[in-house]
Amino acid sequence: MHDTSGILSKKRGAYYTPEAVARALVAWAAPSQSDRLIDPACGDGVFIAVHPNSVGVERFSPAAAVARQKAPGAIVHEADFFSWAAETHERFDAAVGNPPFIRYQLFSGEQRRKALAWCKTQGANFSGLTSSWAPFIVAASALLHRGGRIAFVVPAEIGHAPYARPLLDYLVGHFTWVQVISIREKLFPDLSEDCWLLYCEGFGGISRGIAFTKLQQFEFTSIPPTDGEWISIRDWKLAFGGRLRPFLLNRTIRGFYSDIAADRKTVLLSQLAKVGIGYVSGDNDFFHLRPSQALELGIQRQFLVPTVRNVKAVTGGEVTKKSVQLWEKEDQQYLLLRIRKDASLSHEVKRYLESEKGHVVRQGYKCRTREPWYSVPDVQIPDFFLSYMSGDRASLIRNNAACTAPNTLHVVQAKNKQSAVAIRHGWHAPLTQLSCEIEGHPLGGGMLKLEVKEAERVLLTGRVFSKADERLLAEGAFEMKRWRHYAS
Ligand SMILES: C[S@@+](CC[C@H](N)C(=O)[O-])C[C@H]1O[C@@H](n2cnc3c(N)ncnc32)[C@H](O)[C@@H]1O
Repeated sequence: MHDTSGILSKKRGAYYTPEAVARALVAWAAPSQSDRLIDPACGDGVFIAVHPNSVGVERFSPAAAVARQKAPGAIVHEADFFSWAAETHERFDAAVGNPPFIRYQLFSGEQRRKALAWCKTQGANFSGLTSSWAPFIVAASALLHRGGRIAFVVPAEIGHAPYARPLLDYLVGHFTWVQVISIREKLFPDLSEDCWLLYCEGFGGISRGIAFTKLQQFEFTSIPPTDGEWISIRDWKLAFGGRLRPFLLNRTIRGFYSDIAADRKTVLLSQLAKVGIGYVSGDNDFFHLRPSQALELGIQRQFLVPTVRNVKAVTGGEVTKKSVQLWEKEDQQYLLLRIRKDASLSHEVKRYLESEKGHVVRQGYKCRTREPWYSVPDVQIPDFFLSYMSGDRASLIRNNAACTAPNTLHVVQAKNKQSAVAIRHGWHAPLTQLSCEIEGHPLGGGMLKLEVKEAERVLLTGRVFSKADERLLAEGAFEMKRWRHYAS
């Protein structure tokens, strides 16, 4: 994707689609030349250029201008799609495209309010944490004639994001056929996000499930691949909490996993422990000191707590007194300045807080919104730390040296001694590794992210498995890693 016009931009969610993909989606969605087609976010016009009876909407004028050149037969409206959709009386046979993937942090203000309000009138209830592409699909569908089709490039988040559920709920409630196609090899090599395809037909009807197809790579076809699996609405909602991603696993592994989940000996991590995020200091450089610095400033040890700043700081799966001694010897920045709210401050601490740097740091958002600004909240000394962004696997680190950790790690506080033992023994089992892959989600670049809520659902069991069963579970974990591009 080579941009010569400056019309590609992450902020606007502008990643333009390869022509073969656009042709495939249009060929199926609007098979007759007379079918009226809309692309709600047409960008430079790759979809509308390959169909003679098209309408494109694009908010960004330079892109709309390129679209007009590329698709001279099409009508291109330069507008915000949601405002346009709410006003227009036009109806279409097909909607296609690659809607902008703008995360909720940037998809905000009046634009988001309008989009979500419009979706609500159509029966799709999205939360404020929704990325822009999902409301685009709902709003574009609402402009279809009865029986109409849609075909969209969608982010692979459709397989796991919480807001994918209201979208899929809307789709099965408004189309007679809903098909999601996962594609392992990247459609957009420059984008860290994987993209999948979505095909729906029969607007105005309802569907009893979702067809799910797994492809290694995209290949042009004028109809969607017919192989795949039919997932009933019940299975989709119950088996994995309304997420499609776990269906990337084959039936045997999925079935085995579900049986283990239902077993009496299996528990969720949340039954054994409280999982939370580490503290947010407000300024890591200011609040984390090297031993030499602490000495020079004269800051007393009662104000300092050893902290595990990341997984790399630890070897062998546990933090011990020896690890801390090593950090001390290497003069690492491992001492958190922890001042309890009601603590009386020593002269040396006051001097550090009143330093030039201290005056800058207290203006930062986190510091100025807490009282007192220098007291870092939620400093916990947990039983374990858990990596929440992981490569090969989510690491569990035993805390044998009364350390704390910032929010680069999760903190895991076992409910009692027995629970701590169960966590320690169970964590490395193939079941738990697979469970991390199923409950977590890919972050791009091969990484696995495990949010607190996801970590809480990770399974542990005291059950002993045969070698063959262990292999099956390990195979499942490997397969999920392949889908997140960690293993090949
Ligand atoms: C991912 S690009 C896709 C463009 C084109 N459909 C393609 O696949 O090549 C998304 C486009 O949506 C446009 N866009 C973002 N928000 C919009 C809005 N509210 N209304 C209309 N277009 C919008 C962006 O400017 C960008 O050109």
